Amino acid sequence: MNFLRNRLVVLGLVLLATLLLYLLLPSIRQGSMEPSLEAQRMGLMATPPPPIPTINVSIRTGQLPGDPPLFFREALPVDAAGRQILPRLQVVLLHGQAFTSKTWEELGTMALLATNGYQALAMDLPGYGKSPNSEALKTDQNRVDLLSRFMESLGVRAAVLLSPSMSGHYSIPFLMKNSAQLHGFIPIAPVGTKSYSPQQYQNIQTPTLIVFGALDTNMGAQSQKNLLQLPNRSVLKLEGARHACYMDKPREFHQGLIEFLSTLKRDV
Ligand SMILES: *[C@@H]1O[C@H](CO)[C@@H](O)[C@H](O)[C@H]1NC(C)=O
Ligand SMILES: *[C@@H]1O[C@H](CO)[C@@H](O)[C@H](O)[C@H]1NC(C)=O
Repeated sequence: MNFLRNRLVVLGLVLLATLLLYLLLPSIRQGSMEPSLEAQRMGLMATPPPPIPTINVSIRTGQLPGDPPLFFREALPVDAAGRQILPRLQVVLLHGQAFTSKTWEELGTMALLATNGYQALAMDLPGYGKSPNSEALKTDQNRVDLLSRFMESLGVRAAVLLSPSMSGHYSIPFLMKNSAQLHGFIPIAPVGTKSYSPQQYQNIQTPTLIVFGALDTNMGAQSQKNLLQLPNRSVLKLEGARHACYMDKPREFHQGLIEFLSTLKRDV
């Protein structure tokens, strides 16, 4: 009787183990199919999935004094174990009219940058989010100076500037005057691209990734046409995406962003 009961218990255990294996195998197989980051970097995969941050990245906030004071969020680069490391580059994130620095935190862009070895610094532009407006921003030069103050105060020496839509009021004059300070430029359908000559564009050596949504036939198309005059540029056109294309296609946007950054020379 005892013997029979033991046999039944063993049989039950074997069945349970088989069932578990059956349930687990597909996910194990999927896990091992994931391409390595190295393979993605080298462009070996046709459509690699975007790198997804798996560790906690803490986002610090701060405020720079001045006129106006500037609120910002910062994510420091970490290694796979979550330990802080030296940044490969420093990515300064501006924002569009309907957005703030919080957009980049919520979209996961800041955490993604940090886990890929970049320092992310997102600013609330004056009059948005937690940065008050200022009368002292009438000219292009005022806005160039504001960006310079932001970068200098935060020790940014190897800047990549990411600039959607309205923030072109700041980034395009900055590019025209201080392009030597930019290791990379990522315009996302920015305003203000049409007031410059072909010669002014052609003088700029900064590697540029032009990003726009395929459905953005207004500002997206217009800025792309002007920015294509830059000698060292590549283009990321997000299919099915509107003006705020990074909100419509965050996976594709993040993938293109990390790929572009990996082509830039690191130098901090
Ligand atoms: C991430 O951070 C949150 C809040 O600080 C914490 O509750 C959570 O356990 C952390 N997760 C990991 C995987 O470290
Ligand atoms: C163009 O930009 C890429 C980075 O996207 C860089 O590796 C390359 O050296 C640049 N080429 C020139 C001629 O500056």
